Amino acid sequence: MKIDPWSSTTYQDYARLRDEFGIQEFSEDLWKDLPHPQRLLRRGVVFGHRGFEMIHEAILQKKPWAILTGLMPSGRMHLGHKMVIDEVMYYQSLGADIYIAVADIEAYATRGFTLEETKELAVNEYIANYIALGLDLKSCHLYFQSKNQDVKDLAFLLGKKVNWSQMVATYGFEGSTNMAHIFSPLVQTGDILHVQLEQFGGIRPTLVPVGVDQDPHIRLSRDIAQAHRLYNVTMTKDNKIGVFVKVDKNVKELLDTAEKILKKLQFSDLKRITDYKAIYINTAGEADISRIDEALAHTEPTFQGYGFLQPSSTYHRFITGLTGDKMSSSKPESAIFLTDSPQEAKKKIMNAKTGGAATLEEQKKSGGKPDECMIYELFLYHLVEDDNELKGIFESCKKGGLMCGQCKKRAAEQMEKLLIDLAEKRKAAAGQIQEFLKERYS
Ligand code: TRP
Ligand code: SF4
Repeated sequence: MKIDPWSSTTYQDYARLRDEFGIQEFSEDLWKDLPHPQRLLRRGVVFGHRGFEMIHEAILQKKPWAILTGLMPSGRMHLGHKMVIDEVMYYQSLGADIYIAVADIEAYATRGFTLEETKELAVNEYIANYIALGLDLKSCHLYFQSKNQDVKDLAFLLGKKVNWSQMVATYGFEGSTNMAHIFSPLVQTGDILHVQLEQFGGIRPTLVPVGVDQDPHIRLSRDIAQAHRLYNVTMTKDNKIGVFVKVDKNVKELLDTAEKILKKLQFSDLKRITDYKAIYINTAGEADISRIDEALAHTEPTFQGYGFLQPSSTYHRFITGLTGDKMSSSKPESAIFLTDSPQEAKKKIMNAKTGGAATLEEQKKSGGKPDECMIYELFLYHLVEDDNELKGIFESCKKGGLMCGQCKKRAAEQMEKLLIDLAEKRKAAAGQIQEFLKERYS
């Protein structure tokens, strides 16, 4: 199995994906004690993560952390794209420093759009809807890849620690793949890691909330972040924690600095072997690794290193299309677009695939299957905030109390409200967008 970020596959078997790619389960202990957990976290739509523990800790201890996510301006914005922004707004309410990349270089390189076309789509489809949904744009850093010199510079420099074989193994690139496409994952790595540069807030935990199709980019970014580190902190074979200097310059100074920091962190029983470029800590355990690593990362810029912490990620399930397969911009009947009229949306909802039985009598007798129903998914992902209300729908469907006609009508009505509200807010936001573009797109 391979994850291709540029294909349009859906992934049915999320547990298998986790196992195969070493994605961790997004279990209850990661979100239960966060303030008012968002519905996508509560309901298992966010099903996996890498390194979310760091974010969890930063939130609870009120330490600085950042979010970087991106949008691909290559079509209309639909409900599937709304999920990331719902997550981002939640994290913004918890105090995250928000960065959003418009992936215009990627759309140009991989989907054949001109930069001008991607600008239109980004503004009218995405940015307008983000504001309408309630994202506070003034307090986020939203930028276009093609206009962000820091991101592009970083992308180039980071390329030093990744080679062609690794890119082929990760993405299946071939001799005929164009170079801009080949370079676009590095631009995305530049997006993800640039927020830890000094001038963007410095070294800190960074969360990248995405769909699971983006995992190859996350793995690449995490590998690259690690590869550029000057120190490596790991468990040794005899169950000690070892701090190793990975470079050949300033070894003595790096070891001196590490020693100082370890003492400051109250580790006393240290054994330094300069020839091995190593310090072993006898009194530390596995649970101390991330704390030590983070403290050391912060010293790396004084040795011309970046000190990037590995970015964390969360993965959400894809919303199913109304037709039963993927929700996709290229199949309008499968998707509800945020710019659809209520009538258009209603029509799609009325035609949607449900978990209902073949006949009314049969459904009354043996109930429906909400977990195979696109209408129920709309409630679960987008339309019903109250968990008890959602549970009510689920149970009443299962028992054969709720019939699909009535249920679809309810979904259509709620969707209508949402779409009308968004349309009004988009209109109201027009001025704000023009101002924003003048400021950042020049
Ligand atoms: N590749 C992403 C997509 O196809 C867009 C993107 C660009 C992105 N840069 C990013 C996503 C950084 C997350 C983080 O949708
Ligand atoms: Fe889906 Fe509602 Fe029909 Fe149940 S009653 S199968 S939830 S549309």
